[in-house]
Amino acid sequence: MYMTRQFVWFVVLGIFIITINLIQADEHNHVYEDNEEVVVWMNTVGPHRNRQETYSYYSLPFCHGSKDTINHHHETLSEALQGIELQSSGLDVEFKVSVPKTEICAIKLNEETTRAFIYAVKNAYSYQMYIDNLPIIGAVGGKDSDDEGNGESQYYIWTHKKFDIGYRGNQIVDVNLTIDENKAKLIPNTNVKFTYEVNWKKSDVKFEDRFDKYLDPNFFQHRIHWFSIFNSFMMVIFLVGLVSMILMRTLRKDYARYSKDEEMDDIERDLGDEYGWKQIHGDVFRPASHPMVFSALIGAGYQVTVVVLSVIIFAILGELYTERGSMLSTAIFMYAATSPVNGYTGGGLYARMGGRVWIKQMILSAFMLPVMVCGTAFFINFIAIYYHASRAIPFGSMVAVACICIFVILPLTLVGTILGRNLAGTPDAPCRVNAVPRPIPEKKWFMEPLVIILLGGILPFGSIFIEMYFIFTSFWAYKIYYVYGFMLLVFIILMIVTVCVTIVCTYFLLNAEDYRWQWTSFLAAASTASYVYVYSFYYFFFKTKMNGLFQTAFYFGYMALFSLALGIMCGTVGYIGTNAFVRKIYSTVKID
Ligand SMILES: *[C@@H]1O[C@H](CO)[C@@H](O)[C@H](O)[C@H]1NC(C)=O
Repeated sequence: MYMTRQFVWFVVLGIFIITINLIQADEHNHVYEDNEEVVVWMNTVGPHRNRQETYSYYSLPFCHGSKDTINHHHETLSEALQGIELQSSGLDVEFKVSVPKTEICAIKLNEETTRAFIYAVKNAYSYQMYIDNLPIIGAVGGKDSDDEGNGESQYYIWTHKKFDIGYRGNQIVDVNLTIDENKAKLIPNTNVKFTYEVNWKKSDVKFEDRFDKYLDPNFFQHRIHWFSIFNSFMMVIFLVGLVSMILMRTLRKDYARYSKDEEMDDIERDLGDEYGWKQIHGDVFRPASHPMVFSALIGAGYQVTVVVLSVIIFAILGELYTERGSMLSTAIFMYAATSPVNGYTGGGLYARMGGRVWIKQMILSAFMLPVMVCGTAFFINFIAIYYHASRAIPFGSMVAVACICIFVILPLTLVGTILGRNLAGTPDAPCRVNAVPRPIPEKKWFMEPLVIILLGGILPFGSIFIEMYFIFTSFWAYKIYYVYGFMLLVFIILMIVTVCVTIVCTYFLLNAEDYRWQWTSFLAAASTASYVYVYSFYYFFFKTKMNGLFQTAFYFGYMALFSLALGIMCGTVGYIGTNAFVRKIYSTVKID
């Protein structure tokens, strides 16, 4: 009895270890022994112009190789979310064993499969595969232009795949795929034979450098890119100089007048020409309208800022682009891990503004962004399911995301909120708030908050729009983005420009004796994102050839999310800077 139980445990443990080893096949350490199996993974196939509209490779009537191997599908959450769907090709490839031209499998075309292939060829479908994490792209087929055959019969598919694999030591460092040796016309009731061939060659490429051939330095390190950074940098110097000059001068004059005030007697002061920002010291620290939404936005903004900054730094340190989905995994992990930041800042601000329904505020703060992201994804998922696209998010992944939100993000936000309310929740404004709000005087149209908000985003947008071109180009999978140093610089420049611009805007607003600066500073900075969204329309129509319902919905849905997150981030940074500024100038005001 005892022995059998031990035996059962032993078997369970053994299966467990074998499973782990199977999942952790050798592509994970990228080291192979001679004759060891190298798995050729088929990923997706899809139209060349719509990079996000991808389908499982075997959704086209391709056939499998004879070899039975493990199937991978979605290994990690981020792969599933990105529509990566690896399936073993069944090709028999072994490390350092060259294979002459060998048949993979054969199919007989019927009406339906011919139509499917012709559709794919007409839409310039290409497929993507992986060997040892190295991406390989090949076209499905083409069209004979010289052959004036009867209509459809001019279309053909490539049937031969020749792999040239470069190795160095016991690692794979280079893979080339040649496809244009054999083709088969797409005519019903013909047999099509698929073949492959593997040549192993010694290569001088270092393992660390094996992704270099996928990068495009001519594109990313183009003069335009350097020039734009330089340009934005000059803008920063100019703006910082301008802000400090104007403000120091004005403030000094104001301070001088106020200190002179003290020497005047009361009557003189009452008749004096007091105007401008000092007038509203009794209202300027009045809590913003809609304090719950406001503090939730600020909390989420702190969180997004920290996540973006840390992901950029991780990307600089870790070359995240070399592992499938690691960028998204890092972002999800960082988002969950920084939830206390959200709770602390948002909850603290809400308490300082005198808010009482803090649980509601916390839930709003914690779930605002996740709900918007999931809502968009859910909507796009419907279209993806309709299209049978591989981007359709599997049910298991949805559950996983929901679990992360409920069991990780919510409790961490709760901890942050409680800490924030207790440690940073006491009102600490330098001026008392009057019981009765002061009426806001009439002013020129260009001093209206709405106008200030719209103008506020122009300069920050100007400092990033060239970088946006590079980010969009990589985000929509035309190039691999790898110059994260640039991105960090642009991020810092954007933050500085945003803070400077919102401080200037707020100063004008306060001088017009309008004390609604909290929302104005947030929205003036956040309006940068609306310019980015408008720019994304330009990018869509003039820089890409995307078409079709799925790709269009995907593009505009995720661009809206991107802009929204950018807006919340910029808005928060603008508010933080302005808040420091406002507290500074009013802390010197003597209250009678
Ligand atoms: C792949 O192609 C490149 C460019 O043609 C060549 O330099 C490299 O040697 C090839 N690699 C292998 C393993 O054949």
